[in-house]
Amino acid sequence: MNVGVSSNFSLTNHLGQTVEDSDYRGSFMLVYFGFTHCRVVCPRALSKLSTVLDQLGEQSKLLEPLYITVDPQRDTPDVMRTYLEANYPRFMGLTGTQQQVEAVKQSFRVFASRKTDSNEPDGYTMPHTAIAYLIGPNGEYRTHFADNLDVEVIVARLKVILDQNQVDS
Ligand code: NI
Repeated sequence: MNVGVSSNFSLTNHLGQTVEDSDYRGSFMLVYFGFTHCRVVCPRALSKLSTVLDQLGEQSKLLEPLYITVDPQRDTPDVMRTYLEANYPRFMGLTGTQQQVEAVKQSFRVFASRKTDSNEPDGYTMPHTAIAYLIGPNGEYRTHFADNLDVEVIVARLKVILDQNQVDS
């Protein structure tokens, strides 16, 4: 399936280090986009994907779970580190300048835009694409997982791909 997704980025991780997609060659990237103030969608997805990684056991070491913010104005490296280490410690957070984040959104074909909402912190929310992307060890798009999939389905699909990778290597 060619969905036109590529995995190019230059960002800053939640340890304050500059990272590019090429730094992850040799590993699979499991990439989810969101923002730390997200009330429902991100917590549900990050929790589910953390369970998936738990269930993969040793094979989870083949994966680099990345959480890329669509709200870099609030999601500084420190904010992301605090959020992820407390709640979803398997994930590394990535942020950047507005321009860098726009570029990675375009690369992954991710939609997100600011929406005024007086009930939200700072008066806005950021509706966003709720899809987890799997990028292969050569930086190639492999597949994606829609938000409505169960843990068991995602684990089964990942195992097929990761098993194949071990045969190849
Ligand atoms: Ni979210």
